[in-house]
Amino acid sequence: MSDLRPTAVIVLAAGEGTRMKSTTPKVLHTIGGHSLVAHAISAARGTEPARLAVVVRHQRDRVAAHVAQIDPECLVVDQDEIPGTGRAVECALDVLPTDLSGTVIVTYGDVPLLTAETLRGLLADHQARESAVTIITAVLDDPTGYGRVLRDAEGGVAGVVEQKDATEEQRALREVNSGIYAFDAAVLRAALAEVGTDNAQGEKYLTDVVGIARAQGLRVNAYPVSDIWQTEGVNDKVQLARLGAELNRRIVERAMRDGAIVIDPATTWLDADVTVGPDTVVHPSTQLLGATTIGAGCTIGPETTLKDTEVGDGASVIRTQAELAEIGPKAKVGPFSYLRPGTRLGAEGKIGGFVETKNAEIGERAKVPHLTYCGDATIGEGANIGAGTIFANFDGVTKYHTEVGAWSFVGSNSVIVAPRTIGAGSYVAAGSAVVSDVDPGELAVTRAQQRNVEGWVSKRRAGTETDRAAQYARGVAAEQALASEHGAVVEDDALSQNETTGTDAKDANE
Ligand code: UD1
Ligand code: CA
Repeated sequence: MSDLRPTAVIVLAAGEGTRMKSTTPKVLHTIGGHSLVAHAISAARGTEPARLAVVVRHQRDRVAAHVAQIDPECLVVDQDEIPGTGRAVECALDVLPTDLSGTVIVTYGDVPLLTAETLRGLLADHQARESAVTIITAVLDDPTGYGRVLRDAEGGVAGVVEQKDATEEQRALREVNSGIYAFDAAVLRAALAEVGTDNAQGEKYLTDVVGIARAQGLRVNAYPVSDIWQTEGVNDKVQLARLGAELNRRIVERAMRDGAIVIDPATTWLDADVTVGPDTVVHPSTQLLGATTIGAGCTIGPETTLKDTEVGDGASVIRTQAELAEIGPKAKVGPFSYLRPGTRLGAEGKIGGFVETKNAEIGERAKVPHLTYCGDATIGEGANIGAGTIFANFDGVTKYHTEVGAWSFVGSNSVIVAPRTIGAGSYVAAGSAVVSDVDPGELAVTRAQQRNVEGWVSKRRAGTETDRAAQYARGVAAEQALASEHGAVVEDDALSQNETTGTDAKDANE
């Protein structure tokens, strides 16, 4: 048929979902980084419908707010106190134009693996066969709980009977109603007006529309899908995990087909929107979440969690936790690094072991290699931040910024008390507490003068191993002084002389 776009897609999400045993509404639970209803809306949007409606009731405010956030164009429809899938669709039709014509698709908010492709296939089939109703069906080994598809002698769809209303014979049927349909809009509206609640559950069943359309001599067809994951809904947390794992399997497989090397797909978790460039190696126990993008030829993991993080080509990120961070091309991060929001590491830069960064811009080829807290800082190109440096950014009330200029060198175990500017090309001596700015080219030293108290150990720690070591060392030093006075060549210290002797003795024994 001419217009392949549906006039409306109606997503049902009013149900209570009691089996989830959760204070969170069922459709707000997430897999692959998106809520169940977000997956449903995304598949629906893929058909480019003229109108998209989500029907809500249980915890309606939370669901409505979430839908408004992920898809502001989406119409949120309230279902009234009359229960049933038929009533839910009727409530949606009530707020859509009364002269609605064309195809209406109905889907569920709790069936997350359904794809836009499948819905487009349903639509094309429905329109090509000029059907009044088309049902997505699936053949299941265990059809328990589902509505069964009834076929007539010619194999045509005669109706759908719910498990609770079915006879023993009908319950043996294995072809089930997925709950996803395409309807002719006018047929749907007229038929729903005839549907009652005289059934085992006292609900207004959408499935009754099928029998009504058939009775009117209209075309009703099935659109069977073989990928039954696409029709499986989430009713409890076991199914949530099952479908989450299957979705992940599909996402990881797609990443590999796009060129990523995944060492252990079973322990690699990728959210739906994540992209991984070709020849990037993803090591075991790695989670790439949210809007994370990874360039080509990177090494990611093992045991790494990156959320909403951008990684440039050729970077390596090992045993790292990062969120809202940017890691430049060929940069190195980890192992054991913690990158908090606002971290931006330049090309070929380094954030090493036991380093925590936050709101920190670290320039190209700059290095923060060991044991550092770097918060609220700008570090220029090529600068080196020594082991154990602390950027003291917080005075208990306010956070302050620190700037370290290009190619500067901050010695180990320094504390830089913000707000502070350390100019380009300057040095900070190891162990300094930097409390005033440093100009380009200067060396800042803030530590006290060293004082050595001679003979302290023999006086205050007499008889200890330390004292004995000191006496021995002093004896060796005195011997060496004496020997050199007599013109002898002293090559080595006492220890290596012993070693040499040991080796000689061993050789002699052989
Ligand atoms: C329904 C179908 C059944 C099908 C099965 C597939 C009917 C009568 N039965 O059964 O044939 O095999 O789905 O999963 O349609 N919902 C509302 N408002 C309501 C009731 C339900 O919006 O008043 C929504 C739910 O949130 C859910 C969906 O509709 O997303 C299905 O509801 P559910 O109660 O799970 O239907 P089933 O009894 O499983
Ligand atoms: Ca269900």
